[in-house]
Amino acid sequence: MSTTPRTTGRRRAAALLTAGVAAALTLTLSAPAVAAGSTLHAAASEKGRYFGTAIAAGRMNDATYMGIVDREFGMITAENEMKMDATEPNRGQFSYTNGDRIVNDALGKGKKVRGHTLAWHAQQPGWMQSMSGSALRQALLNHVTQVATHYKGKIYAWDVVNEAFADDGRGSRRDSNLQRTGNDWIEAAFRAARAADPGAKLCYNDYGTDSINPKSTAVYDMVRDFKARGVPIDCVGFQSHFGTTIPSDYRANLQRFADLGVDVQITELDIEQGSNQANAYRQVVEACLAVSRCTGITVWGVRDTDSWRTGKNPLLFDGNGNKKAAYTSTLNALNAGSSNGGGNNGGSTSIDTSAWYVLVNRNSGKALDVYNLSTADGADIVQWSRNDGNQQQWQFVASGNGGYRLKSRLSNKVLDVSNFSTANGGEVVQWPDLNGTNQQWNVTISGGYATLQNRNSGKVLEVQGASTADGANVVQYDGWNGANQQWQLVRVG
Ligand code: G3I
Repeated sequence: MSTTPRTTGRRRAAALLTAGVAAALTLTLSAPAVAAGSTLHAAASEKGRYFGTAIAAGRMNDATYMGIVDREFGMITAENEMKMDATEPNRGQFSYTNGDRIVNDALGKGKKVRGHTLAWHAQQPGWMQSMSGSALRQALLNHVTQVATHYKGKIYAWDVVNEAFADDGRGSRRDSNLQRTGNDWIEAAFRAARAADPGAKLCYNDYGTDSINPKSTAVYDMVRDFKARGVPIDCVGFQSHFGTTIPSDYRANLQRFADLGVDVQITELDIEQGSNQANAYRQVVEACLAVSRCTGITVWGVRDTDSWRTGKNPLLFDGNGNKKAAYTSTLNALNAGSSNGGGNNGGSTSIDTSAWYVLVNRNSGKALDVYNLSTADGADIVQWSRNDGNQQQWQFVASGNGGYRLKSRLSNKVLDVSNFSTANGGEVVQWPDLNGTNQQWNVTISGGYATLQNRNSGKVLEVQGASTADGANVVQYDGWNGANQQWQLVRVG
């Protein structure tokens, strides 16, 4: 923290100048706007992803529920209606009424469908629960063939096999009647599904595999083996039923699967309500957007009252169908940064002067921050762990000459090189907006990172000494393209 005293004489001069160039300022730059979707699926689509939900046939007559489904989601999963007990309640007698209702409604509205699920140890019909051995294997493969054939051409991706690994901390297969038919039951199911519906992507889906752990590594080893031996598998679903936090290696785990040559999808997302819920949803979206083969996100239900996790309020809409803070953070995270094909780090590649951005330092991962929530003239600008508070949100105000001021959402004051300093290490503070050249920055965005060059001094905004600590000083310095001089522009509002 600097305690350098600030003086104001040069700024007063800048204020007088401002009046003189007012006419020129009316021709403000209209920077290309970052496309922003106004619904979850629209926003996801701009990033080349889908955003979906699980729905229940029994709720389809609820107008509030279906209003949200129709408006917000582009991918539909049947929460229970396409499981084994629902589709083959008696051996050889198939029942598709509720599944068809969901699938046909979705397709009729231009949405896509994830099929859930062809083979699972749970929710088996009674007749199957009591079977074993080769008879069960045959019944399983017949089930896969019949159901996948019925829905042929209508399914974007099938969860062919669900939850086949145990929670024993050793990555074992889960014991079940299906597993006891032989270790190859999973690949047999995938082969039958491919033969029945060659157009559907075929996924393995599980929970507790969201971080790098023995269970996810066992799934990883299976997928790698399948790819090596030509067993048809196209995708891995990560259910992502979370408590109040997201695993720190979530993105890395998604990426290692993607690197095997499969798509990854977040298939049953819900996150327990708490002070971190909105932030955690944002983190999930950011993780998916950071992995190019993460093709979409599905939440496991619409309103909190529709969730299987009674009392946890883990979804994006409250019981009345109102958008929660988690909804807003999810939508903002989907809208942040570039459209697909732009910067690959999620950072914006152009400036929208109506937006609010958090500036995340490339070196430290911390955000540009008005120290101690100050609204005072001369308050110091530092980096701090990202929390998206108003003291970390900045708007670009065009100066009419190619430069921008950065206005704090907290104080309404702008970034300012104190005293018009031209020295390396010159202090950066907040100050009332006078549109002085010491308050103007030329912004260059490259590879998803922005460099901000002060128009008075020619030096760039950096974290002093490449510090990674909270509270580290933000100053100006000669530009040398250091990571501590690069800032990711993350749109948050
Ligand atoms: O509809 C009947 C109702 O008529 C009956 O009175 C009542 C008695 O218990 O049961 C109702 O059915 C329940 C059904 O949900 C519909 O609400 C079942 O008992 C109940 O077992 C079933 O739970 C589902 C669960 O899978 C079954 O394992 C949840 O809705 C569903 O959200 C949940 O979804 C699973 C995924 O398929 C796989 N991953 C985990 C996820 C959460 O458990």
